[in-house]
Amino acid sequence: MKIKEILSKYPKESEYLIEILLEIQSSSKNHYISSEDVEQISKYLDIPESQICSVTSFYTLLSMNPKGRYVIQVCHDVPCFVNDTTSIYEKLVDMLAIEDGETTEDNLFTLEITECLGCCNEAPAMRVNDQVYTSLTPKKVEKIVKDLRGEEK
Ligand code: FES
Repeated sequence: MKIKEILSKYPKESEYLIEILLEIQSSSKNHYISSEDVEQISKYLDIPESQICSVTSFYTLLSMNPKGRYVIQVCHDVPCFVNDTTSIYEKLVDMLAIEDGETTEDNLFTLEITECLGCCNEAPAMRVNDQVYTSLTPKKVEKIVKDLRGEEK
């Protein structure tokens, strides 16, 4: 969805800024808010671009840096940690050759360590874009990554 279509769904009031930013980011192929987006939001809500940038840098859910097509977030909170999330993370590092906060050279994957994804009873867990995967093993992770790579061929 184009930014103008997204903006037109919201009243021109600054209290909608975060909702607007989240929707723009989730509609972006690279999961980020560009400087052009900031400029258009600024005009639409009639607020300074600097205000939008400070909100974006304050909320960890928001990013102004482009990410890979698939953002893989591995939970590292205690219930996942005690269920060996480390082997999940290491499998991903091994397969993707990147670490926390990095993106593969082909811009396909970004790897992030994150906090609880809300499914601790099925730990360890990770999220790929909007899809959550639970009860993970290194073997399951390998299949997930291979399937995602397969979608690109
Ligand atoms: S601690 Fe990992 S999903 Fe809750």
